[in-house]
Amino acid sequence: MDWTALKDQAIAFISEAAHRLYDPALRNLDIDTKEDADDLVTANDFAVQHFLSDKIKQAYPSHFVIGEEGEQYKNIPDHTITWIIDPIDGTTNYVHQYMNFAISIGIYYKGEGKVGIIYDVMADEMFTAVKGEGAYLNGKKLYPRKSIDFSRAIIGFNARWLVGSAGPKTKEVFAGMVRDVRATRSYGSASLELAYVAAGRLDAYVSMRLAPWDYAAAAIMISEAGGECTPLFDGDELFTESCSVLAGEKHVHEEMFARCNGQ
Ligand code: IPD
Ligand code: CA
Ligand code: CA
Ligand code: CA
Repeated sequence: MDWTALKDQAIAFISEAAHRLYDPALRNLDIDTKEDADDLVTANDFAVQHFLSDKIKQAYPSHFVIGEEGEQYKNIPDHTITWIIDPIDGTTNYVHQYMNFAISIGIYYKGEGKVGIIYDVMADEMFTAVKGEGAYLNGKKLYPRKSIDFSRAIIGFNARWLVGSAGPKTKEVFAGMVRDVRATRSYGSASLELAYVAAGRLDAYVSMRLAPWDYAAAAIMISEAGGECTPLFDGDELFTESCSVLAGEKHVHEEMFARCNGQ
């Protein structure tokens, strides 16, 4: 398979789908909730998922497509190419702020990430990666970062984790990291925050319980940009149903991983 050609095709699909989200006249705020009152989904989440799935299935009938608002992450066949889609990553931002949301697609084959694309619709920033060929932002190559000291790091961190369901020990470790770094940021879109790690805008990003479509594209991108994207806790595995994730520049990642695993 020519993965670069597949990346270009995926970019074309995403660009077409993005019109629906970019055009204020098509901004569909027919909002529903999922697991709780703060877990939003709009008609456009489904519309973008269906648009992309249809395009992919027409062009590549043998490929398998899953996504947050489509087929769930189960029984992925090993023999065929799988597209993992988050049609809107950052739905709360789409509804409330109309910025900082992305379309994310990761393409996998036999368990290995081949192509990752994350498109920040309102900023018109297209983050792309092909395994072995590097990561790019709007066509400009993203190079591995120089290591920095943890005390100078800016980390993507959602303050909700300090009051949420994480155990007291994890919360204590999180509080220590928040204290020790230079600054924290929270953008409300996991895929974008992970793309920012690849681009060097964040030195690390940590999140409890992400779904595979939140990081399928970013994991490829971060590794191509010389960073690390792993489970937060030793012994866990990415691409299990909801895994806590840690991504970062290598040195910062190492420090955070050690703290979260009591090393
Ligand atoms: C959510 C966003 C958010 C993260 C949540 C995700 P969605 O994705 O990425 O930043 O904290 O865990 O579920 O639902 O907007 O696609
Ligand atoms: Ca969602
Ligand atoms: Ca998501
Ligand atoms: Ca989503």
